[in-house]
Amino acid sequence: SLLDVVVNNDLPLDGFGACEGTLACCTCHVVLSPEHFARVDKVNPAGEDELDLLDLAPALSDESRLGCQIK
Ligand code: FES
Repeated sequence: SLLDVVVNNDLPLDGFGACEGTLACCTCHVVLSPEHFARVDKVNPAGEDELDLLDLAPALSDESRLGCQIK
């Protein structure tokens, strides 16, 4: 997942992925470009639990996803 990329590369994104991908925090909220969103959505669409949690994300966009759910 995108969360794995952040963790495995020790990227300095403070607080990103606080719940370690258990769909409990939405700190991994990312906004993709329209092109990337379309590609990701085609092969790995958001599930109902992700969509429910995204509703709580600040600055929600049509291209929002949770990084821990992007495979
Ligand atoms: Fe918590 Fe993605 S890391 S919802």
